Amino acid sequence: MDWISFWDSKHAVYVNARHLDAHYRRIADDLLPYVPAGGTVLDYGCGDALSHARIGAKAGRLILCDAAPGVRTALGERFATNNTIEVSAPEEVEAMPATSLDLIVMHSVAQYLAPEQFDTKIALFRRLLKPNGLLVLGDVIPPGTSPITDAMALLRFAAHEQFLVAATFGLIRTLFSNYARLRSTLGLTHYDERAITTKLAAAGFFAKRAATNIGHNPSRMTLLGRPA
Ligand SMILES: C[S@@+](CC[C@H](N)C(=O)[O-])C[C@H]1O[C@@H](n2cnc3c(N)ncnc32)[C@H](O)[C@@H]1O
Repeated sequence: MDWISFWDSKHAVYVNARHLDAHYRRIADDLLPYVPAGGTVLDYGCGDALSHARIGAKAGRLILCDAAPGVRTALGERFATNNTIEVSAPEEVEAMPATSLDLIVMHSVAQYLAPEQFDTKIALFRRLLKPNGLLVLGDVIPPGTSPITDAMALLRFAAHEQFLVAATFGLIRTLFSNYARLRSTLGLTHYDERAITTKLAAAGFFAKRAATNIGHNPSRMTLLGRPA
């Protein structure tokens, strides 16, 4: 199993419906300030995107892309009647014309890409962004971040969103899950701030770290990239 087939499978990363809802609500809340009114936005590796109707409503056009075919099918059904949202496969995004996007989001995906795959994605994003566009690269994991740090962040979020008991059992379940197996065999890709800004600069971005990360985990980083 690779990471894409993991995300395409029936997994239990989100411990219950309340967690899933709170997760995507938080991401939409945090992304909205970056969304240009009346712009064209791409969320690459968007996952279930449960609260993204608000992003589509502000932007006017939101393209949701995910490599997992089952995730795309569910997105297509969820947003079938939403005329601000379209669902695309990665190869359709690759075929898009240059300088057609105002905002590209890639949140909590970089860790599942090998460094050379990541380079290919940011070169694509650089081509697709308008000269005054913005890349929001969220949830980049610095080296030395342990699963315990992630567990503590989840428990704090769960306490706030009132799913603490389910999160505690969910974390125990995770220890014996495909996620833990893949994390120890395939690993996750980590970048420190200097490494990720250097990579972004090499791809043609002026990049800086945002004051806060998108989502519930403050030990991870969000980078903002503007075409240089
Ligand atoms: C941790 S989930 C993040 C989902 C969402 N962005 C969020 O923050 O909740 C990672 C997502 O990235 C997708 N993904 C992984 N590798 C990808 C790739 N090479 N191209 C596009 N999507 C990818 C997975 O299918 C999965 O839906």
